[in-house]
Amino acid sequence: MLKKVTSAEVCLGMYIHRFEGSWIDHPFWKARFLLQEPRDLQKIQDSAVIAVWIDIAKGLDCPPQAECSPAVDPLLLPEPLAAQAIAPDMPPVAVPVPGTAPGAALSCPQEMAQASAVSAHAKQEVARLFQDVRLGQAIELSEVATVVEQISASVLRHPTALVSLTRLRTADEYTYIHSVSVCALMTAVARQMKLPADQVQLAGQAGLLHDVGKMRTPLEVLNKPGKLTEGEFAVMQRHPEEGVALLQQWGATAEVIDVCLHHHEKFDGSGYPHGLAGTQISLLSRIAAVCDVYDAISSTRPYKTAWSPAEAIRRMAEWKGHFDPRVFQAFVKTLGIYPIGSLVRLSNEQLAVVIEQHPDSLLTPQVRVFFSARSRTPLPQRLLDLARPPADERIVRREEPEEWGFRNLERLWQQA
Ligand SMILES: [Fe+2]
Repeated sequence: MLKKVTSAEVCLGMYIHRFEGSWIDHPFWKARFLLQEPRDLQKIQDSAVIAVWIDIAKGLDCPPQAECSPAVDPLLLPEPLAAQAIAPDMPPVAVPVPGTAPGAALSCPQEMAQASAVSAHAKQEVARLFQDVRLGQAIELSEVATVVEQISASVLRHPTALVSLTRLRTADEYTYIHSVSVCALMTAVARQMKLPADQVQLAGQAGLLHDVGKMRTPLEVLNKPGKLTEGEFAVMQRHPEEGVALLQQWGATAEVIDVCLHHHEKFDGSGYPHGLAGTQISLLSRIAAVCDVYDAISSTRPYKTAWSPAEAIRRMAEWKGHFDPRVFQAFVKTLGIYPIGSLVRLSNEQLAVVIEQHPDSLLTPQVRVFFSARSRTPLPQRLLDLARPPADERIVRREEPEEWGFRNLERLWQQA
């Protein structure tokens, strides 16, 4: 039986069944647990949570003088208002840019400074977390909840600014930033697909933790430059199951565990570990599969340089059977056919870098023109919105920055 108590009356020994209100107000990822740790009690009392449902069959009842509701059957308790959690107009967690309303959508360059701070903090937190796992220490999932919230808030302000930044990484930090990036991508795609708010939140959590099992993969295999042997590949392929064992220990939700186990399944049944096909694979795992592969092939790794974002999308579109077509379509709609940072050639033989998408017009992004392909000389930079008259230029093809010898192209798309 359940009773509702105010946060002030919560005490050690109570079994927490649910927090009242939005998930973002409470500091825990798992809603149901026996409250045993004084620091967890402190977290509840310091949080914005006003009331908590406790299960008096599984833990202490409230004291006789306490203000609490009459006991109710768990089945009669209405479902939480998940839509309050991460609704599109939810205020962001991070500090807003001066002069912009909280929660307002920002342009990519406007979001860059905040996204950069979020990315740096998230990388640090994930590195610390994963190193703790490597040392065999249990982790508290609530510790990374803040990271997921900050990443989600950045994605709400701009769907791909953070992802554009996380492409730039060294081989050493690959695994940590990969987690941050897949978290941001999954959040953005889940929103693009208009999934309910609680699913969007789970997508972010799952993205951050999907590869945690790699912390049990020997470093010489994980960071090996060059091709893995058959035996090493088999070791690497154990990371989903290794991750599940860890996540179960930490009390992660079933959805997050499922994504960890099945993010390497393929839509045609040729993936691992279980060879699931089609809708046997959960929707969140199908989203994870797309985001995981995109991030892997569009960022530098120990043994290869990255494909450009546009090239990565083109290649993925050619892999028949790998991805759920509906999810892949939503993914492309999120990033654009020419994602931010892509180098493109315009119909007037000028080169430009994509700096912003138009959600309804994927072929006509905003670009910064900077180079003449004909004379091979720099041009005075100018912004051009290919979707707006009088622009009559169009993109004729994508170009590879390496072939032109361009370095630091990010300076062109990160500036406001
Ligand atoms: Fe993986």
